[in-house]
Amino acid sequence: MARVVVIGGTGLIGSKVVAQLTEDGHEATAASPNSGVNTVTGEGVAEVLQDADMVVDVSNSPSFEEKAAMEFFTTSTTNLLRASAAAHVGHYVALSVVGAQRLTGSPYLRAKIAQEELIERSGVDYSIVHATQFFEFVNSIADVATVDGIVRLSPALVQPIAADDVARAVADVAVGEPIKGVLEVAGPEQFALDDLIGKALSRQADRRTVVADPQARYYGALLEERTLIPGDDARISGTRFDDWMTRHTA
Ligand SMILES: NC(=O)c1ccc[n+]([C@@H]2O[C@H](COP(=O)([O-])OP(=O)(O)OC[C@H]3O[C@@H](n4cnc5c(N)ncnc54)[C@H](OP(=O)(O)O)[C@@H]3O)[C@@H](O)[C@H]2O)c1
Repeated sequence: MARVVVIGGTGLIGSKVVAQLTEDGHEATAASPNSGVNTVTGEGVAEVLQDADMVVDVSNSPSFEEKAAMEFFTTSTTNLLRASAAAHVGHYVALSVVGAQRLTGSPYLRAKIAQEELIERSGVDYSIVHATQFFEFVNSIADVATVDGIVRLSPALVQPIAADDVARAVADVAVGEPIKGVLEVAGPEQFALDDLIGKALSRQADRRTVVADPQARYYGALLEERTLIPGDDARISGTRFDDWMTRHTA
């Protein structure tokens, strides 16, 4: 049985990671501001990591604005890495985004790259999981891309994944040997981004029009056809988007 602290353990992925690890017989502790652990101010961090074998960071910045996101990921990661070293935590796991290094046009992704670089340079034994876009994230992608009722999106390829499958992968990685590198995880199917969002909106009877525009930016970044697609070594999960949609729109 491993003792795992899940930072952001109340969030979408974090709550599922805690549930998976618990089901697998491990002792998983959800840590977040609500439970008195704030990785930005440092409050409660040393205390919660005291007896941890592993730390999993699946927290997220409350704001995607450039300065706020950069401050969140750099301050939070610096505090967590320092406390993990002091507590002799054996494995540091963080969740980031497939293609982050190709998405430097996005302020949010620049903050995620900074987070990853801090971990890689820290000397801790680490694993970074790169996930593709979560199925649960499709409405946010639509909302950010909407102007006057028109959703303008790149037709670049995406290979989205269910949050449950991301959590399964993160939980497996957490209790495995440190990868000292990146594991990519993705869903089983590829879609053009505009088609995926159009499909999701129409399944929800959302009448917004989706327009394919190769110049449309994704969280600030221009996309090429395969920018968001993982490499050949990615772990591919089973849940299909249509089946997930059927369950979630029932
Ligand atoms: N969305 C995607 O498609 C996608 C794809 C790949 C990777 N990712 C990555 O997945 C990660 C998790 O995303 P998510 O959607 O699961 O996030 P989420 O649901 O927004 O949850 C964020 C978590 O972070 C916690 N948190 C916020 N501020 C904190 C602080 N100062 N100290 C400690 N914890 C704090 C929150 O705690 P409270 O509940 O107390 O506020 C919450 O538990 C992110 O790092 C994101 O970059 C996302």
